Amino acid sequence: ALVEITPYNYTLARNSPLHAQIQKAYRWYSPKFSPHDVPRFADVGSITENPLVMRSIRDFLVQRYKSFPQPPTHIMGFDARGFLFGPLIAVELGIPFVLMRKANKNAGVLIKSEPYEKEYKEVEPEVMTIRLGSIDKNSRVVLVDDVLATGGTALSGLQLAEASGATVLEVVSLLQLTFLKGVELSHSYRNGRYSKIPFFSFVDETALTDENCGDLLNYTGKRAISCSEALSKL
Ligand code: ADE
Ligand code: MG
Repeated sequence: ALVEITPYNYTLARNSPLHAQIQKAYRWYSPKFSPHDVPRFADVGSITENPLVMRSIRDFLVQRYKSFPQPPTHIMGFDARGFLFGPLIAVELGIPFVLMRKANKNAGVLIKSEPYEKEYKEVEPEVMTIRLGSIDKNSRVVLVDDVLATGGTALSGLQLAEASGATVLEVVSLLQLTFLKGVELSHSYRNGRYSKIPFFSFVDETALTDENCGDLLNYTGKRAISCSEALSKL
């Protein structure tokens, strides 16, 4: 069953089997072993490398969206980790998967969001795009990503859906970092125009316990070794 953390912000009950399954699989890495300088970097690979967890996530979301009185017409995924889960459910639901990407990665005539910031700063603030016409005023969309952090990316998706006249049914993520207040940011944006958009996350940061740490203890070598070094260790 779902728990409402704050208005229009839902998560799985802490005692549900699916919560336990995801928590058991998730690995995080400290800055020394991760691509960004954040205290606990949640590795989506620990989920994708676990087909049983992938199936559970797929089945849960497919069931969930089939049960909506007005089911989604499109799944929209954020580059790049939203691409891992969006198509998994879109194909089962028999609806299009729409790619939200940076302008220099998307083809066609595009709509672009305002610039947004992330938990880890990129060199330039980012702008998200979709192809003009990929969704329209008759579309009911679900936005997908692996992690909801500051909400900057989610907000860009909400802008793109709004500018297309589409209805956002839900913003879904595997993990919500509640302390970064991404849902609050989205809900309070511009006088609360998105205040009633539901967010759903399977787990929050409390699932990333010390036991979930993937760091290699006492490792002092380089983080990336060459293929020839790897070969010589075989
Ligand atoms: N995106 C933003 N913050 C993140 C984190 N801590 N782990 C994984 N992805 C993220
Ligand atoms: Mg992301």
